[in-house]
Amino acid sequence: MKISNCFLPVILILLSACSTENSRHYDAQKLLAEKCAKCHNLDMPPKTYEDEKAPPMMAVAFHVKDFMPVRNPADKKPAFVAFVTDYVLHPAASKSFCDKQSLESYGLMPSQKGNISRPELEAVAEYIYDTYTKEVFLKKMQEANAFARLPEGERLARTYGCFSCHDTAGRKVGPSFSDIAGRYRDAGRISESIENGSRGKWPESRNIPMPPRHDLNASVCRILASWILEQKRP
Ligand code: HEC
Ligand code: HEC
Repeated sequence: MKISNCFLPVILILLSACSTENSRHYDAQKLLAEKCAKCHNLDMPPKTYEDEKAPPMMAVAFHVKDFMPVRNPADKKPAFVAFVTDYVLHPAASKSFCDKQSLESYGLMPSQKGNISRPELEAVAEYIYDTYTKEVFLKKMQEANAFARLPEGERLARTYGCFSCHDTAGRKVGPSFSDIAGRYRDAGRISESIENGSRGKWPESRNIPMPPRHDLNASVCRILASWILEQKRP
């Protein structure tokens, strides 16, 4: 017992050394999407809980981390990687950290042996460990709450990428929304420009065109236009 305890740190160092190797060799994010997303929802937090074939990856990561019996915090990641790697290749009800009820409703995970290699899995497990953290989750929830509190027009402008070329007050590639609001009084004209694009009306943009957005319906353009008008400097 004493001897194997002595070797433990060495084994852990070896484990973590080969783990870094793995993350360098594999695109773990892509593997996760290719190999696991058809059953596990990868969004954090999941946007829907409907039609679930398996618990969301966030839930898997959180409860495996919570219930994993390790004494030393430094052992947590290697133990997590070892558990996930083993579980995906050799799932068993006796090993699962899932409660009995969920296990019954989802059914046991089918072994992914032959579908993903062990080193690929180690890279995926590490990625899961690092990505699905309580800190990232909290941050995302705060961002989602802040986003939900924005006016509808601004939410649409952020959703449709308007802020990559515009800002509310400062110039970017395109004029600021407050400058646009200062020039027009009529939301209808702004709405038309959003739909059909614009070119040459703003000298500072040096003839760079704004691409048309025929994909946005009239009511979306109208909401965007009204919001832009409200950005007028007092
Ligand atoms: C064919 C569907 C399917 C695929 C593909 C799949 N899983 Fe699962 N997985 C499940 C189901 C269902 C469960 C819940 C039942 C269980 O724990 O066995 C589960 C559970 C798990 C658990 C155990 C959670 C616990 O509480 O013990 C881990 C870890 C896991 N999956 C990781 C993965 C990873 C990583 C991949 C991709 C390499 C993957 N799964 C691909 C269906 C799938
Ligand atoms: C690729 C960069 C880019 C994106 C993305 C972009 N714009 Fe523009 N936008 C511009 C440029 C450049 C101009 C100035 C064009 C000109 O000189 O007529 C402009 C001008 C405008 C104008 C003024 C048009 C006019 O008639 O005076 C409005 C309104 C506008 N953009 C709204 C939007 C909205 C809303 C979105 C998101 C749906 C958006 N833009 C996305 C680059 C962009």
